[in-house]
This record gives sequence, C-alpha cells and structure tokens, in this order.
Amino acid sequence: MPKMWAGRFSKEVDETVNAFNSSIAFDGRMYEQDIRGSIAHATMLGDCGIIPKSDVAAILEGLNGILSDLQSGALHMDPTAEDIHMFVEAELTKRIGDAGKRLHTARSRNDQVALDIRLYLRDAVSELREQLHKLLHTLIAIAEQHTETIMPGYTHLQRAQPVTLAHHVMAYVWMLIRDSDRLQDAVRRMNLCPLGAGALAGTTYPINRQQTAAALAFDAPVPNSLDAVSDRDFCVEIASALSLLMVHLSRFSEEIILWCSWEFKFIELDDAYATGSSIMPQKKNPDVTELIRGKTGRVIGDLNTLLTMLKGIPLAYNKDMQEDKETIFDAIDQAMLCIKTFDPMLATMRVNKANMRAAAAKGFINATDCADYLVKKGLPFRDAYKITGGLVAKCIEQNLTLETLPIETYQAASPVFAEDVYQAIALETCLRGRISEGGPSPDAVAVQIARAKAAVEELIR
Ligand code: ARG
Repeated sequence: MPKMWAGRFSKEVDETVNAFNSSIAFDGRMYEQDIRGSIAHATMLGDCGIIPKSDVAAILEGLNGILSDLQSGALHMDPTAEDIHMFVEAELTKRIGDAGKRLHTARSRNDQVALDIRLYLRDAVSELREQLHKLLHTLIAIAEQHTETIMPGYTHLQRAQPVTLAHHVMAYVWMLIRDSDRLQDAVRRMNLCPLGAGALAGTTYPINRQQTAAALAFDAPVPNSLDAVSDRDFCVEIASALSLLMVHLSRFSEEIILWCSWEFKFIELDDAYATGSSIMPQKKNPDVTELIRGKTGRVIGDLNTLLTMLKGIPLAYNKDMQEDKETIFDAIDQAMLCIKTFDPMLATMRVNKANMRAAAAKGFINATDCADYLVKKGLPFRDAYKITGGLVAKCIEQNLTLETLPIETYQAASPVFAEDVYQAIALETCLRGRISEGGPSPDAVAVQIARAKAAVEELIR
C-alpha cells in the first residue's frame, strides 16, 4: 500500500521496516471503533463548516459501506497497510475520491488511535463485566445450595475452624464484586474524548470537541491535548483491575485443584471440564484451573509491559505506545476466556459433602469452641486456651478426637467440664453458633447472600 506520508520521502520504506512498523495485524480489530470515530469527526467537520456537507454525506456513505463490507467479509484488510487508520482512510479515498482526502482535516492518528482504544476498551470491558456477572450468579447459586455444607476453614492450609462451602464461595463472590466495580471505575475515568487533540497541540480549525465527545457517548473531551494523546493510564488501570481479577480466579483455581486431589476429594469436576493423561489411564486432571493459574502470570505480565513501556517516554506521542494494544487486548482476551470456562466448570462440579464433613470432623477445628465453652463457664480465655491445648495433645497421643475423649479426661483437666461439653463442641453447634455479622452460620450467610445479590444488581444497573 503506498504511504500517505510519501511526499517528504524519496524512497519506499524498506519491507522489513514496514512489517516491523505495521500494527494492522493487531489493531485491525478496532475497525468498527475507527469508523465510528471517523463518522463523528466528519459530521462535526461539516457542522462547523470546515468541509462541505456534500463531502460529509459522501464520507458517511463510504465509511458505512466499508464497515458493512468488513463485517460481511467482502472486504479484507490489507496486511501491508501501516495500521487500521491508514487502511480505512485509503479504502475510503479509493471508493469516493477527493472527499475521502478531506476526512483527516483537523485530526491526527495520535488522537484517532487514543480514541479508538478507548472506544474498544469501553465495549470490551462492558462485555467482560457481563460475563463476570454471570459467573457471580453461578457462585451465588452454589452458595445458596450449600449453607449447611460444613467444611474445614483453613489458615496456613491447616484445619482451623468450621465454615460452610457457601461461606467459602461467598468470599470469592465479594472479591469478584469488587473486581467488577474496579473495572467500572476505570472505565468511568477513561470516558473522556481525546478527539480534537490533533497530533499533540490541538488545531487552528474551528472544531467542536463537545460535539464529537457527545456523539461518541463520552462524558466530556479530555481537557489537555498533550495528555489526550500521551497517556495510556486507562490501559494500565484496566490491566491492573484485570490482574487482580485473575489473581482472585487463580486463588480459587488453586483451591479447586487441591479439592480435586485424592488427598481432599471435596469435589469432582464434570468429565466435560476435566482432561486425561496420555499415559496414566487413571488420571482426571483439572487442566482448566491450572491454565487459569498460569494465565494469571501472563496478565500480570501484560500490566508490567504497559507500565514499563510508559515509564521512560517523553510527551507527547511516541511509537513505543503502539505496544499498548497487543498487551491490553491480551489481558482482556485471557481474562474473558478464563471467566467463560471457569463459570460452566463450577456450575457442573459435584460437591462431596461427606468428605468435607469428614475433614471437618478431624483436625480439632472445634478446639476454639471447646475453649469458648470454658470461657462461658467463667474461665479467662487464656486459661481456657491452655487447658484445651492440653486436651488436644491428649487426643493426639491416644488417637482420639475432642468428640470421643472421655468425660473423665475432660474433668481431670478442669472440673468445670460437664456432659454438655459434647453438645457444645459438636460441629453443627460450632457452625450455628457463629452468628456474628459476616460469619459462617447458615443464618448469617443468608444475610450476606441477600446483600451480595443486591450488590450484583447494583453493578448491572
Ligand atoms: N499505529 C499507531 C499506534 O498504534 C497509530 C498512531 C501513529 N502515529 C504516529 N504519529 N506514527 O500507536
């Protein structure tokens, strides 16, 4: 494709440089946004009397034709074009002649590309958040079914205190609610229109930036033309919110991987969401969750790439910035893939309640409740803690649990103990007793589920 900037040059650009410089292979996906932006720009140029209305009509018709031809596949992008912006403009001029050459009046690719990425990310983040909200619905549905499913809660991966699967899953629900909120917040700050910033210093034409901003559903124009074309902080913010989202999915994935192991066997993945081994016939591997954990590193890498790309470049536009797109697109694509696969995998997994309950019955997760029993009978907590610690040591010695330890042993440790201790340390009692706000008792979890549902509704609105 001949270069639009050919006038100043006496030679064609070297082929390797052209291939190196070209971004159409990855910015081609913004063709729709590029055309939408051009339509708003051309309309404004006409309304401000900068180009004739008859040219505007030809431009709009031409652009709409290019759009539908690209959508239908009748038109293919030229892989040797420098970028999507040059390709669309050249195609337009090919179709409508001189009017096409007027489109780029009072505009630069620098404000154009800054616009296209914002438009693209606004749509992409909205799609991603929709998927995320579907995942939230799945998780809340799982929680609703398991408010009585007792499992051990862990600290240091050591059995600690009783929780339920509902309570555990709801912890992730709140993390993902915040992730959606962070993405929305990043979009809110991004939603200013760079169009009209020109290459860096605005323009001498009497343009109307308010008009293009409004036409493209932005809240306002970016207030500073240099800032408008120089920063990619919105990419960084979105990549950062996505990295954290991925970290949350990755932690959950790690737990699923553990829960699928023979050592835990808390859950079983549906055959459609697990994979086998090429050599070991017995294997059923949680590949999906492992890939999510792996891809989390990749998305964090994307965030690092963006920050490093930006940190040394002077104002205003520099070609380094072309690296923003592959990076942020990759972060979006990977997060989207992960959410879309994770959701049905979770929806179809089977929960082994008996194994969760059995794990909760071992490991002395009612020891705190045993100490609390003594506190309720008047002992200071530190003394109660020490006595219970001694009882746990006795259990380990004699291969017993607090439930099976004879009452004589209890009473030898403290005369305060009576038969009702067995009731007090029963797992169900320990769970139901945890009624503090945000705690795991079925009643408290029902309250948080209702709150989470309202919070998700709020995010969708
Ligand atoms: N393909 C370029 C990018 O993605 C578009 C902007 C080019 N501007 C320029 N002055 N060379 O950043």
